[in-house]
Amino acid sequence: MSEPPLGHLLDAGLLGEPVAASREGTSEYVLEAVDLRKRYGHNEVLRGVTFGVHRGDVKAVLGPSGSGKSTMLRCLALLEPIDAGEVRLEGRRIGVRESGGRLVSLPERVLAKERSEIGMVFQRFNLFPHLTALGNVMIGLTEVRGRSKAEAREIAQTMIARVGLAERASFYLGELSGGQQQRVAIARALVMNPKVMLFDEPTSRGWFRQACRRPRDHDGRWRHHRRRPARRVLRQPAA
Ligand SMILES: Nc1ncnc2c1ncn2[C@@H]1O[C@H](COP(=O)(O)OP(=O)(O)OP(=O)(O)O)[C@@H](O)[C@H]1O
Ligand SMILES: [Mg+2]
Repeated sequence: MSEPPLGHLLDAGLLGEPVAASREGTSEYVLEAVDLRKRYGHNEVLRGVTFGVHRGDVKAVLGPSGSGKSTMLRCLALLEPIDAGEVRLEGRRIGVRESGGRLVSLPERVLAKERSEIGMVFQRFNLFPHLTALGNVMIGLTEVRGRSKAEAREIAQTMIARVGLAERASFYLGELSGGQQQRVAIARALVMNPKVMLFDEPTSRGWFRQACRRPRDHDGRWRHHRRRPARRVLRQPAA
């Protein structure tokens, strides 16, 4: 069965607002890590990680098991407090604010809003087992974005259909395959209209691999690999 690439998934018509990933920003990088440091007890996992992701870029991080890839993504997504360093989104430091010359953590409500600007598909998807596929995609829209239930249901239903799961919308997690769960996780992240998407182990399942695969020429040879901008991945293709 041929599946549509991610480029078909998100558009302003679905969300009723411009797609955040295609908005032009003023800063050079859409996402930046500056000297990120994180340790668990004696285990120093992140030892000063610094990099920037340009708008539209796709960056991959490779490393052996246990080297800190998931930890780094969780820190970028503000799901794990960092010991030192900065995470910047469109040039703005996120996760903390200055108060009386000191940096303090943001209140949970503000943090939740900042988190929702960064979409994340987790290594184990982290979906709610007590909710259906539809419920999992709706919950961020109602709880974080403040959309009405009816509005959230309509957006979620459309997105679930776009990831090819229209007939599975009322299924609970245990009734879905691993690949189907990943598509629910992608749908859940995309409906929040994130500025960037983080995929933990994207190549473990077929969907994202398909979205990123290199096109072949007519004679079957791989074409020269072109950078595939995330903006294009998220944008509705031209009719
Ligand atoms: N919550 C935690 N508490 C304590 N140690 C942790 C925690 N999360 C991760 N670690 C440790 O941090 C290190 C990095 O883990 P992480 O999950 O980031 O690795 P990874 O590169 O994603 O590995 P994999 O490729 O297997 O997914 C490991 O040694 C792990 O044991
Ligand atoms: Mg991992």
